[in-house]
Amino acid sequence: MSGFTMKNNKVLILFAHPAQSRSEVNLPLFRASQRIKGVTCVDLYAEYPRFRIDIKREQQRLLDHDVVIFMFPLFWYSTPSILKEWQDLVLEYGFAYGSEGNALHGKTLMCAISAGGAQEAYQRGGINHYHIDELLTPIERTAALIGMNYLPPYVLFHARTAADEQRLTPHIEQWQSIVSTLQSNELDCNALKALPMFQELQNIAKGVTQ
Ligand SMILES: Cc1cc2nc3c(=O)[nH]c(=O)nc-3n(C[C@H](O)[C@H](O)[C@H](O)COP(=O)(O)O)c2cc1C
Repeated sequence: MSGFTMKNNKVLILFAHPAQSRSEVNLPLFRASQRIKGVTCVDLYAEYPRFRIDIKREQQRLLDHDVVIFMFPLFWYSTPSILKEWQDLVLEYGFAYGSEGNALHGKTLMCAISAGGAQEAYQRGGINHYHIDELLTPIERTAALIGMNYLPPYVLFHARTAADEQRLTPHIEQWQSIVSTLQSNELDCNALKALPMFQELQNIAKGVTQ
């Protein structure tokens, strides 16, 4: 016996999209994620159409996984409402924070999002003024407070034209590569945290999984 065991991260994707019949980006991304072996994919709106989130079940899901991914379209510079409800209810005192609330310490959190606006709009002087990582600060700070490693977001801008402009397929393929990499734990999380966005890792992620 070598004594060396390769750790396989368990990845949990929490998908939040309230109008999936109109989704051109997130639904295909979620479906592609479901095809990756070993990934747990949860459709929050399908599971909780009345927002009656099963807190204990969701907490157990978190305990059972190492990497948690919030997958959603940007709505009013934020998450669709069920994902906020999920955070408010599931990340309880004594579980996620507080003197004995350390259940999530050392786990990893990242966002996979799409935005209607173009990347140029998400900068100083652009129509949205703020960079996307600044707008995701509440999630980044939440991760910090509950002891999770926060990774830079994986973002598709100008989402409504992505399919026509042949940007959607490469986005999904790269996502599958990133998830595989996260599963195999081959990326240096500390190095990643310094990056504003995951796209910049394209070549690294590809290199690792080839
Ligand atoms: C209620 C609502 C709010 C939105 N708010 C934003 C926003 O703040 N910023 C932005 O770039 N796009 C915004 N959009 C556009 C969506 O982000 C975009 O349509 C979505 O990412 C496309 O993904 P899908 O094809 O999976 O629906 C909004 C759309 C809706 C319906």
